[in-house]
Amino acid sequence: MIEKKLDLSIRKVAWTSMYAMTVLITFCGQALSQETPDVTFTRDVAPIIQKNCQLCHRKGSIGPMPLITYEQTKLYAPLIKLMVTTQQMPPYHYDTDVGIQALKSDKRLSAHEIETIARWVDQGAIEGDLADMPVPWSFPDMGEWRLKTEYGYGEPDLIVKSPHFTVPAKGQDLWWRSIVPTGITSDRYIKAIEVKPSLEGYKVVHHTNSALSVIKNGELERAGHITEYALGKLGEILPNDAARLLPVDSYVRWNIHVAPMGEEVKDDQVELGLWFHPENYKPKYKQDLHNYLLRGDLDIAPHGTAMMQEFYAWNYPVRIDSFQPHGHLRMVAMSLEIFYPKTGEREVVSMISNWNPNWHLSHIYEDDVAPLVPTGAVVILTAWYDNTKNNIHNPDPDVWVGRGNRAADEMSHAWMAVTHLDEEGYTRLKTAREANLQKMGSKDK
Ligand code: HEC
Repeated sequence: MIEKKLDLSIRKVAWTSMYAMTVLITFCGQALSQETPDVTFTRDVAPIIQKNCQLCHRKGSIGPMPLITYEQTKLYAPLIKLMVTTQQMPPYHYDTDVGIQALKSDKRLSAHEIETIARWVDQGAIEGDLADMPVPWSFPDMGEWRLKTEYGYGEPDLIVKSPHFTVPAKGQDLWWRSIVPTGITSDRYIKAIEVKPSLEGYKVVHHTNSALSVIKNGELERAGHITEYALGKLGEILPNDAARLLPVDSYVRWNIHVAPMGEEVKDDQVELGLWFHPENYKPKYKQDLHNYLLRGDLDIAPHGTAMMQEFYAWNYPVRIDSFQPHGHLRMVAMSLEIFYPKTGEREVVSMISNWNPNWHLSHIYEDDVAPLVPTGAVVILTAWYDNTKNNIHNPDPDVWVGRGNRAADEMSHAWMAVTHLDEEGYTRLKTAREANLQKMGSKDK
C-alpha cells in the first residue's frame, strides 16, 4: 500500500512534459526501430477503440475529439498511448493489481489491449489492410438512458424531473435545491437508478444529490439518499436479493451543484430515472446508500500531503455492493479494506491509486464477489491528498486547503451501497461462494 502510494507521484508527472516526451520518444522510436510493424489499425487497434472509446469519442458525445476513422485516431496517436498506458483513458480508475476485480460496467482495458495500442504507436501507427477494418458500431443517441441502451433495462418506470434552473455564463458555483413529489400511488421497490443531466447541461452540472423525503406526522422528513450523480457515473444497479423502498407519498430532495462554464445554460433540468421491481415483489434484504465520512481535521499545508482514515462496523453482517471515493482536486487515492478481528487478517478490497477528480465513478461489484463483512469486522476507508505540484490536478500548491463544498476545498467520504444481511443470509452466501469456488477449482483440473 505504502509503496503503491509513493508510486503515485511518479505516475503523475507533469502533463505537458510527459506529452512532449512521448511525442519525442515515439518519433525517435520510429526512426531507430528496425522492427517490422506487426500491429495495424484496421486489424488490431480499431476493435479496441470501437469497444472502449467511441461511445464518448464521436461527434456530439462528451469526448473532446472523435476517434472513428484511421486519420482521426492517428492524429492523436502519441497522446492516446500516453492516456492508455497511464490508465487515464478510458476514464475508469481502479487498480488492476489488488482487490476485487469483477466489476459491473468495467471500462478498463486489459494489459494486452494497452500493449497493443502502445506497440501500434511505437511502430509508426500504420493503417494496415482496409479489408481488416471492422464494421462500424452504431451508438445510442446522446441523451438516452444508459441503463436502457447499454443494459437493456427499457424505459424507466418513473422519471422525476428537477425544476428548471438557469446557469449563468460566469460566476461562482451554485447549488439548486428543491423538493419534488414522486407522485407514486403505492410503495415500490427500486432495482436500478440513473440520473441524467440534459445535453446542454451536462457540462455545467458538477454533481447532483437526490435524497428521499417522506411525510411523517404531517411533516416532511428526510428518509435517506437515492443517488449521487457526477460525470461518468452510470447509476445504481441493485443486486437481485436486495432493494430500496420508494414509499408512497415520497418526495425527491434535489441538491444540484452547478459550475458556470463560459456559456449560459437556460431553463435546464436534471432527470432521475427509477426502475422498479414488480408490484408484488418483496426483497429478502434492505439495501441503502450512504456517504461514509472520513471525519477529523482535514487541513493540508501548502506543498504538503495528508492522509485520512475512518472505521465502520455493524453489529450484524453486511454486504458492500458498491464503492465510490469522493474528494476534490487534492485527493489522489482512496482504498477500502476489511479487518477481521477473529483472525487478525486485513484485506484490501478496492484501491484507486490514480483517482481523477474529473470522473466520479461508482464501482459496482459483481453479485458473486461483493465483499461480505461478518459481524464485528471493521471496514477501513483511507484517503490520500497531495497538495504539491506533482498532483497534475492541483490548481495552486501555495495555499492551505481545508474542508468545504467548493471545488477548491476538499472533501472526504465514500459512497457505499450496503445490503443489511442477517447471520443466516451471511452463512448461505458464504457457503454458496465457497461451493462455487470448489466447482471452478475441480473444473480447472
Ligand atoms: C466515458 C467517456 C470516455 C471514454 C469511454 C473514453 N474517453 Fe477519452 N476523453 C473523454 C473526455 C470527456 C475527455 C476530456 C476530459 C478528460 O481528459 O478527462 C477525454 C480525453 C481524452 C484524451 C485527451 C485529449 C486531449 O486533447 O487532451 C485522449 C487522448 C483520449 N481521451 C483517448 C481515449 C481513448 C484512446 C479511449 C479508449 C481507450 C477513451 N479516450 C475513452 C471521454 C472518454
